[in-house]
Amino acid sequence: MEDLSANLLSRDKESVWHPFTQHGLGRQLLPVAGGMGAVIRDVEGREYLDMISSWWVNLHGHSRPELAKAVADQILKLDHVQFAGATHEPAVLLAERLLEAAGLRGKAKVFYSDNGSTAVEVALKIAHQHWVNQGTPRKLFAVLEGGYHGDTVGAMSVGRSSGFFDSFTGMMFETTVLPVPLIWRNFQNEEGEGDALSKIAALLDRLGNQMAGLIVEPLIQGAGGMRFHSPRYLSELCRLFQERSIPVIFDEVMTGFGRTGSFFAYQQTSVIPDMICLSKGITGGILPLSVTISSNLLFKSFLGDDFSSALAHGHSYTANPVACAAALCSLDLHEETDSLGQVARMNRRMAHHLEKLVTHPKIEHPRLLGGILAFDLVTSSRSYSAAAGRELTNFAQENGVLMRPIGNVLYLIPPYCTSDEQLDRVFGVIGEFLGGH
Ligand SMILES: Cc1ncc(COP(=O)(O)O)c(C=O)c1O
Repeated sequence: MEDLSANLLSRDKESVWHPFTQHGLGRQLLPVAGGMGAVIRDVEGREYLDMISSWWVNLHGHSRPELAKAVADQILKLDHVQFAGATHEPAVLLAERLLEAAGLRGKAKVFYSDNGSTAVEVALKIAHQHWVNQGTPRKLFAVLEGGYHGDTVGAMSVGRSSGFFDSFTGMMFETTVLPVPLIWRNFQNEEGEGDALSKIAALLDRLGNQMAGLIVEPLIQGAGGMRFHSPRYLSELCRLFQERSIPVIFDEVMTGFGRTGSFFAYQQTSVIPDMICLSKGITGGILPLSVTISSNLLFKSFLGDDFSSALAHGHSYTANPVACAAALCSLDLHEETDSLGQVARMNRRMAHHLEKLVTHPKIEHPRLLGGILAFDLVTSSRSYSAAAGRELTNFAQENGVLMRPIGNVLYLIPPYCTSDEQLDRVFGVIGEFLGGH
């Protein structure tokens, strides 16, 4: 391949349009040349700790040779085949192992797609058609305030209140937005939870028979600002829906694969979701893949003797064998590296640092669960482009740390291979930034 390192940025500017980017502001991009472990390296050889896990996908560190080998071996065996009317070993093995890990073997089916948004679209379509197939169509979805589920039209509709999609309101369908009683360190919100639950119960008494489903990001709402709620609230909320036979969808695109301290966030609740969406870390963060795990009960409502009740959904790369092979290797790596143990270790180190940070007057609502830490920077503006967040991004980058605050919310979501010493460096940089403010 041609070496572009000398003029990567100018060539990029001429030909590329980036995601979630206002190109009019002319902000400098980071020209990346490589990655190893928790480190990203730019074209000039400078190193940065990847505290965003590359948009939350990377679990075991960058450039793992085990994943590279699994991918190469699979390409030489079977690179791709369409998944309608055909099947293959990597897809079947992966479905079995995911169901096993979720405690749902024999109770649910795995539907493949290729990113978090499509996993959500599939879940919404399954819930919708489930009611159509029963002859009692319903189309109203209940969502949580501040939730984010991706950027395709259905996912935007159920994530509208995240505030990212104001230009697209005309394209979206209606939803019912439910309150989220937030919690943080040393603040349990039992009163708020009780109020919210009684309002929701009353709402369901009125509208329950129009509800097609409930979708939630369990325990932590990510892109909406790393907002935490309690397992108790989530369990009670879901009970209200499930006792009315309304399917509950857990979007574990961010929380899955150990991020919150358990392999899936739902394992910290008393809920068995009717559907679970997984993506991001599913391949260890190296290839696009997603699944929508769906209960056998829902699956059965699609059975019939003509196509009309079947799920008319599929992508060209559905269940791509190479991505499935990476995901199988990633599951092995979870066991070999004791990733839950690593998350627990990172949690202890981050808790230690958070303890010292919380007394700072510029910090509020500190929160930590598993390997995800967040707090709010006290500022006058909480908009996505809040200046404090941007200043911190620049300061951190100059000091060898990649972060991407959401407005005034600073968060860390490190790869599990991040060492205690690397975390100490990150908190050193945060401390220096706060010291200057
Ligand atoms: C909870 C959640 N759901 C869905 C998505 C969408 O995933 P993708 O960006 O792969 O479409 C995201 C992405 O951040 C997410 O955090």
